[in-house]
Amino acid sequence: MNENLLNKDLGFIDIPFDEKLDIIEEIKRLCKEKNAVIMAHYYQPDEVQDIADNIGDSLALAQMAKKTDADIILICGVNFMGETAKILCPEKKVLVPDLKAGCSLSDSCPADKLEDFIKKHPGYTVVSYVNTSAEVKALTDICVTSTNAKKIINNLPKDEKIIFGPDRNLGNYINSSCNRDMLLWNGACDVHEKFSLEKIIKLKEKYRDAEVLAHPECKKHVLLVADYVGSTKGIIDYVNKSEKKTFIIATESGVIHEMRKRNPEKEFIPVPPDDSSCACNECAYMRLTTLKKIYNALKYEQPEIKVRESIRKKAEKSIIRMLELS
Ligand code: 13P
Ligand code: SF4
Repeated sequence: MNENLLNKDLGFIDIPFDEKLDIIEEIKRLCKEKNAVIMAHYYQPDEVQDIADNIGDSLALAQMAKKTDADIILICGVNFMGETAKILCPEKKVLVPDLKAGCSLSDSCPADKLEDFIKKHPGYTVVSYVNTSAEVKALTDICVTSTNAKKIINNLPKDEKIIFGPDRNLGNYINSSCNRDMLLWNGACDVHEKFSLEKIIKLKEKYRDAEVLAHPECKKHVLLVADYVGSTKGIIDYVNKSEKKTFIIATESGVIHEMRKRNPEKEFIPVPPDDSSCACNECAYMRLTTLKKIYNALKYEQPEIKVRESIRKKAEKSIIRMLELS
């Protein structure tokens, strides 16, 4: 494939789509022709979730990547998710629609800084949230996602000394709910830190019978007013089982698309961020994916995720350990 097609400044292939064609049909045709599979996170735009072959949270995306027999995996999410797929499937081509799809949480933990921190604390087991770069995963003993973090930490001996990073909110939540004293990296997700407690309280006054559901990446004061705290999958499963009719959602609002599909009779109210008049809180990185970028990525097989083999081998161990313990 032509190396020059990727616009390095933009982070994607900027070739106009022939509007006479049906883009959804074209994406399906390319997937079939190239034995490619599209895997999307629940925070993706609705139309991307709708064309994906598989949809899941961070854990499910890793599990699905490990199992697929497709030759090409197109990850619609953010880059660390593409890297996780590549680490687990080095023989496959892993594509992402837009290389600029980073993650504020991953960025809050540069590998060289973490390495210094680890050196200052010998004898600690390093547990990292999957929202990290391949280099950070290579320094990690066990990866976790928000779906399996409590289970994995509970499985470690009570006296094991643990460094947990990079999310301080998830780390604090695990420390208090699993009665641990993990040493925390001071990072956070810009999206989940922005939920406004004031706006949640106002929504609770308006929707008196509603339940508040929050992701553990939110700040402690938000978690304290939540009726349920859980991962993306945890929140979706909770709604499916709950007899309540209305839910106030304190996580990225993309997740509401799946909840509405599964529960058309229920009502979902996204919590707005504290610093804007927008009604919901979206991850700007996740929202970079478009159908046109997906089409071009499949057609030209770029942008491709690459991970240096020496890093990949070390990072793989920490992800495999997570998958075994999940
Ligand atoms: P989960 O998919 O593990 O819930 O993580 C949420 C998130 O922030 C993904 O970027
Ligand atoms: Fe990263 Fe937060 Fe966006 Fe998830 S929601 S991809 S943690 S910036």
